[in-house]
Amino acid sequence: MTTEQLPDEHWNAFYTEHEQIWSGKPNVAFVDEVSGLTPGRVLDLGCGEGADAIWLAERGWTVTAVDISTVALGRAVAHAKAAGVGDRIDWQQHELGKSFPDGEFDLVSAQFLHSKTELARDAILRRAAAAVAPGGVLLIEGHLGFPPGEHNPHPDIHFPEPDEVIESLALPDGEWETLVSRVHDRAQVLRDGVPINRRDCTVKLRRH
Ligand SMILES: C[S@@+](CC[C@H](N)C(=O)[O-])C[C@H]1O[C@@H](n2cnc3c(N)ncnc32)[C@H](O)[C@@H]1O
Repeated sequence: MTTEQLPDEHWNAFYTEHEQIWSGKPNVAFVDEVSGLTPGRVLDLGCGEGADAIWLAERGWTVTAVDISTVALGRAVAHAKAAGVGDRIDWQQHELGKSFPDGEFDLVSAQFLHSKTELARDAILRRAAAAVAPGGVLLIEGHLGFPPGEHNPHPDIHFPEPDEVIESLALPDGEWETLVSRVHDRAQVLRDGVPINRRDCTVKLRRH
């Protein structure tokens, strides 16, 4: 793989570099896709500093949110408490691929679950599909490349197109409906304030 660090060391070092990494706002495409769903039980995989999980809890979802990084989770807990939804979110530390939360969920969300270190992404997303309750939704948002100008591109990391994501889930025939499978561009503001464009993809599937 691309770095000698263990995955949890890599991500804790990543988060420790700055007091805050992400914007504190929920992901835009995520909000678009989830806004029409009826709140229920949701699992957020790779929740980072918790903005999506907090947004969900504020809208009545019962949230389980997972990350490998204890640094990110510590921030997420504090933000949820400040937002008044600390009691609606079960934060869990897992190295997904090695362990996975129990239960089934009306929505399982994986927003930009990418890593420059070891990540069994396909296997994790298959496990995610298995955790979706009948009638529930699996929502996967991914990048389709590194940010423009990234100094150290990692050619061994693959960013799958929507069709590849769906194929790699190996879903049983007839059990799932594809609601969204699309590529889209997104304007993003980096921490230093320089706006750049990212090309992302959305896969949204419903289990019958
Ligand atoms: C690119 S960030 C996205 C964070 C958040 N979902 C968002 O959209 O802002 C990827 C997140 O996945 C987490 N992560 C990476 N590998 C993981 C693993 N094996 N198990 C659990 N979380 C992991 C990282 O710690 C990081 O918070």
